[in-house]
Amino acid sequence: MRLFFAVWPPAGTAAALHDWGRALDGKPTPVENIHLTLAFLGDADSARAAAAARRVKAARHELPIEQARFWPKNEIIWVGPRELPKPLESLVSALQLELYRDEFILERRAFAAHVTLLRRAARPAAMPPLPEVRWPVNEFLLVRSRTSAKGPSYEPVERFSLG
Ligand code: 2AM
Repeated sequence: MRLFFAVWPPAGTAAALHDWGRALDGKPTPVENIHLTLAFLGDADSARAAAAARRVKAARHELPIEQARFWPKNEIIWVGPRELPKPLESLVSALQLELYRDEFILERRAFAAHVTLLRRAARPAAMPPLPEVRWPVNEFLLVRSRTSAKGPSYEPVERFSLG
């Protein structure tokens, strides 16, 4: 069992991003799985993770989807903001702080705001223009990931509303 914190797009935004990926070569993320990870915990205690997250105070904001990139190292195509938005940075820092306080071990590598839309992707000759989408970040979720032959399925454990 793997746990992570993430934000989920509204259904219309997920559908538009999924459609955008159709033109590209790779294995598309199923529309219901499209998300942005805030912190990855791996195998951890969900009740303790939720208790830490309940202490997080952060503001609602919009996540701009401004660029599409191919990462050759892990062969993914992702979309996300051009620069890390300040309120998202604050949310991630506050969450990390509360998790560290409770002795969770997080990855050392810097947070990169990315929404994976295709895996096992080939380098695209060109990225199609991105759709204009709205992604209000009004809450974040603790999510359980289960892996099966069909790929991962995600189950929300708890939602945390932003102020
Ligand atoms: P990815 O999209 O770049 O693979 C669930 O696996 C989510 O946690 C995914 O969004 C994944 O990012 C992210 N994640 C971050 N660190 C991870 C790790 N070490 N192993 C698996 N997933 C990780």
